[in-house]
Amino acid sequence: KSRIKSPESIVKKLKRYGYESSIDNMVDYINDIAGIRIVCSFTSDIYKLAEMIGKQNDLTVVSVKDYIKHPKESGYKSYHMLVTVPIFLSDRVVEIQIRTMAMDFWASLEHKIYYKFEGNAPQYISRDLRECSEIVSMLDAKMLQLNEAIIEARAAQEEDTDEV
Ligand code: GTP
Ligand code: MG
Repeated sequence: KSRIKSPESIVKKLKRYGYESSIDNMVDYINDIAGIRIVCSFTSDIYKLAEMIGKQNDLTVVSVKDYIKHPKESGYKSYHMLVTVPIFLSDRVVEIQIRTMAMDFWASLEHKIYYKFEGNAPQYISRDLRECSEIVSMLDAKMLQLNEAIIEARAAQEEDTDEV
């Protein structure tokens, strides 16, 4: 999925950083105007994808934030990369978010709730969301295990049929 940051949220972010709204400031200080989100099945896919992106000749990785190893206070988990992409001979920064389907499910609900309460969600809701984030991680770990078990079981089956 790709997304372009809305003009309102660009202006909001510039204000938060203490800059006035100008095209130059947008180019210089906002790194996530253009964003790509990759949603995959397993946590292990995330690191494989990140490695592949790092090896792309036309992309330069500027920074990485691993919110899976270091989740945010909210419970948010995803792998973020800022990369530069050559567009019309000049480099542009793009934010790539990589997450599992389960992480994506959590993030979309959390995002909705955050906006419903304008950032002031009752404490028990924030707490329950953090708890859900833990459950999501358990689910991701379990599904990864299951997938590995399936691959192994299939390989063993094939070996058996080879011998016949
Ligand atoms: P902004 O969060 O965009 O102001 O930039 P930042 O410099 O703080 O970068 P960060 O890597 O923290 O977040 C960038 C993007 O990640 C956001 O625009 C969201 O899409 C996503 N994100 C970060 N934190 C959260 C979170 O707590 N919940 C959800 N749902 N998404 C988050
Ligand atoms: Mg942020």
